[in-house]
Amino acid sequence: MNRKPMKQVLPTVAVLVVLAILAVTLLAGCAAGPSQVSKSGPQLWGENCARCHNVRPPASLNDAEWDLALMHMRTRAGLTTSETEKVGTFLKAAN
Ligand code: HEC
Repeated sequence: MNRKPMKQVLPTVAVLVVLAILAVTLLAGCAAGPSQVSKSGPQLWGENCARCHNVRPPASLNDAEWDLALMHMRTRAGLTTSETEKVGTFLKAAN
């Protein structure tokens, strides 16, 4: 049995394992994409609320009407509760 090559192979394997872990971590980070959690109300509104129809100007509805519209539109837009609140706060501040 020649033991010397084994000693040379092991560090190489260790380096490859570390690189593989790094690669998986980086890829997982990219796959998750930019998180919507940190986006602002106006940004979420612009990106989500004009996908299916023209944007309804904030002034087109009053606060109660926006609450109602957002109840329906949040599921359509796939927004979380906190994202919906941000969009609602923006719309109700601008109407
Ligand atoms: C997946 C598609 C889709 C997305 C995303 C979407 N909507 Fe809608 N929205 C509709 C449809 C369909 C209707 C009903 C038909 C219409 O009025 O165009 C509608 C209607 C509306 C109405 C009119 C409601 C009424 O009572 O007249 C408002 C206001 C509205 N959307 C706001 C929003 C806002 C704000 C967002 C973002 C949070 C949003 N929508 C995202 C599909 C969508």
